[in-house]
Amino acid sequence: MYTTILTNLENGIFTITINRPEKLNALNKDVFNDIDNAMSEVYSNPEIKTVIITGAGSKAFAAGADIAEFASYSKTEAMTLSERGQFVFSKIENCPKPVIAAVNGFALGGGCELAMACHMRICSNNAKFGQPEVNLGLIPGYGGTQRLTQLIGKAKSMELQMTAQVISAEEALQLKLVNHVTTIEELINKSTEILQTIQSKAPIAISKIIECVNIAVSDTDAGFKKEVAAFGDCFETADMKEGTTAFLEKRKANFTGK
Ligand code: COA
Repeated sequence: MYTTILTNLENGIFTITINRPEKLNALNKDVFNDIDNAMSEVYSNPEIKTVIITGAGSKAFAAGADIAEFASYSKTEAMTLSERGQFVFSKIENCPKPVIAAVNGFALGGGCELAMACHMRICSNNAKFGQPEVNLGLIPGYGGTQRLTQLIGKAKSMELQMTAQVISAEEALQLKLVNHVTTIEELINKSTEILQTIQSKAPIAISKIIECVNIAVSDTDAGFKKEVAAFGDCFETADMKEGTTAFLEKRKANFTGK
C-alpha cells in the first residue's frame, strides 16, 4: 500500500517510518503522498490512538525536501510544491490525535519542518536540526518560516534561517525546539512512554487541547501564504539554480545576488 514509508500499529500507537535511508529519508512526492494517506488512516481508524513519526536508519529523520526532484521546477511548480507540503504538514498539526516526532538524526529543511508540524519532538543525542535552504538560494517552503518562529522566537528563527546553521540536540533543547533528548536506543521507548501516558487520558479532552493550543499560535495564515509566494519567487533566481546545482555536483555554491 505504501512505497516510501513503513507503518506499524501496536497498543494504539501508529508508527510511521520514512524509509529512504539511502537518500537520508529526503521527502519526495511519493513520501508526501504516503504521509498524506497514512494521516488519513490516522484520522479514520479508531484503533489508532496516537502517532510516532520517525526515519529509517540511525543517520537521518529526514534531510529535507528532495533537492534532485525540484531543482528544475518553474515558479508555478514550486508554489504547487510548497502548497502541497504545507497541506500535508497542516494535516499533521491539526490531527485530533497526538503526533510525536521521534527525531533520530538529521532533521534539516523539510525534515525540520515535518518535525515542527508534529505536536512534540523527542530526539536522540545525535540529532541535528536546521533550515539550511538559504545554502540553495531558497527559503523554507513547508511552513518552516512560520513554525520555527512560533517555537523558538523571532531572533533565533532569523539567525538559524539566515546563517543555515545546523544545531545539535542539546542546542535544540535549550531553544525549546525539542521536548526531550535521549540516547538513540531509548528514543522510541521515551516517545512510547509519553504516548502511553496520554492514551490513559480522555481522548476528547486531548483533541480539544490540540485544537486550543494550535489556535494560540495560528494567527499566521498570511505568513503561510507569503511563504508559498516567496518560495516560488526564489525559483526565478539564478542563485537558486546555482545553489541546487552546486549541491547536486557536491561543490560550494557561488552566489551573485541575481
Ligand atoms: N535531497 C536529495 N538528496 C539528498 C538530500 C536531499 N535533501 N539530502 C541527502 N541526499 C542524498 C545525497 O545526495 C546522497 O545521495 P548519493 O549517495 O546518491 O550521492 C545521499 O543522500 C547521502 O547524502 P550525503 O550528502 O552523501 O551524506 P553526508 O553525510 O555527506 O551529508 C547532509 C549529510 C545531511 C549534511 C547532506 O546530505 C545535506 O546537506 N543534505 C541536504 C540538506 C538540505 O539542504 N536540506 C534542505 C533541502 S530544501
